[in-house]
Amino acid sequence: MKAMIVTYGCQMNEYDTHLVQSQLVSFGADIVDSVDVADFVLLNTCAIRGKPVEKVRSLLGDLRKIRARRPLVIGMMGCLAQLEEGQQMARKFGVDILLGPGSLLDIGKALESNERFWGLAFRDELHDHVPPAPAGQLQAHLTIMRGCDHHCTYCIVPTTRGPQVSRHPDDILRELDSLLVAGVQEVTLLGQNVNAYGVDQGARVGGYPSFANLLRLVGRSGVRRVKFTTSHPMNFTEDVAAAMAETPAICEYVHLPVQSGSSRVLRRMAREYTREDYLRHVADIRKHLPHAVLATDIIVGFPGETEEDFQETLSLYDEVGFDSAYMFAYSPRPGTPSYRHFDDLPREVKTERLERLIARQKEWSARKNAAKVGTIQELLLRGEAHDSGFLEGHTRGNHPTVVPKAVGVTGPGVHLARIEHATPHMMYATLVDSAGNALPELPKLNPEAAALTAPLAMA
Ligand code: 5AD
Ligand code: SF4
Repeated sequence: MKAMIVTYGCQMNEYDTHLVQSQLVSFGADIVDSVDVADFVLLNTCAIRGKPVEKVRSLLGDLRKIRARRPLVIGMMGCLAQLEEGQQMARKFGVDILLGPGSLLDIGKALESNERFWGLAFRDELHDHVPPAPAGQLQAHLTIMRGCDHHCTYCIVPTTRGPQVSRHPDDILRELDSLLVAGVQEVTLLGQNVNAYGVDQGARVGGYPSFANLLRLVGRSGVRRVKFTTSHPMNFTEDVAAAMAETPAICEYVHLPVQSGSSRVLRRMAREYTREDYLRHVADIRKHLPHAVLATDIIVGFPGETEEDFQETLSLYDEVGFDSAYMFAYSPRPGTPSYRHFDDLPREVKTERLERLIARQKEWSARKNAAKVGTIQELLLRGEAHDSGFLEGHTRGNHPTVVPKAVGVTGPGVHLARIEHATPHMMYATLVDSAGNALPELPKLNPEAAALTAPLAMA
């Protein structure tokens, strides 16, 4: 079987794609990256906003056309698969296999079945399952919990991914070990709300550490860099900031979605904190980690958001001075309380506010990144950049960065670099040694000369 998975959505979905891909490989499948050669195409879907849903609808339409010409098994997994909206689509386009986010391990059964197979249960085995480490990668995700117990009025995730379930720390550490053995240097702990890790298990005997203590455990494992995403401010404790500060492997990067700067809107979103609470968390983080890089998520144009509310979001942005932000126009999702109870604002209002917010974010990112010029940063270089004389990677603070190749550094790895120039979205750096001296750059070669001096480039 030649199988292809197309992934939409967040890092949780990327992790799940890897999990299902490794199951498929263990059944003897070849993983391919073109629909033209695939006989099984599985869409790993996202339902968080209207746009990713529409992308799935359009790809299902294309796949149906292909299937009219040749045999093709069509599958759908992930968040949209769990919803009536997705299941209607699946029926319309003749999807053969449908797996909700809790049923991914049913993929084997699904492929064996001669009939349409739909799996929508939330199965416990998923939490104990340790997928094999990804081959040849320096970076990996590690799911520490699934689902969410909050009920933000705009959000479909509690419906698609169910209530929160934390993985047992032994399983997490086992998976971490296998990542370390495979040479992974940066591990990102994943969950809808990693700060609430263990809370669902109560005070179970022999049990679960707090998230801060899990960070300490993971940070002592020998892994070079640890990140985590994402955090709900309601569950963010000062101990998490303390654990970050005292554990060198934990990167000083905090993604703490605020969603709005207006307490009135936050209440209508059922976020369970106020603007002031959020600012107190930021102060705690900065107390322990003065150089923390702060990123956030913001929704503009939530139903009932006035211009004054929006101004409060802009002023909160200034007060915190975020390094970066993921910004979204509110998208009404069927099945959520805000869809049922509130009227959507006109599209032009949402778009115009989003543009103003993006402009504010650009100003701040430019300012924050410019302040890093001249500093030495630790880069995780993933490989060649678009321009082959350069390598691309990111800092401990998640800044995308490019460097010219240098003598001794022509491929992936963790290296030091001095930031020379910065734009709001990219840093340009020079590789340096541990004393901060620039490593000699490889000469820029034209293609013919490159062929003659290839051994030098491999140094
Ligand atoms: N509309 C727009 N953005 C949303 N998000 C979640 N639900 C919606 C929605 N209905 C955003 C939030 C969340 C991020 C992953 O997506 O900002 O943090
Ligand atoms: Fe990830 Fe949320 Fe999209 Fe599901 S709906 S894939 S949890 S972003």
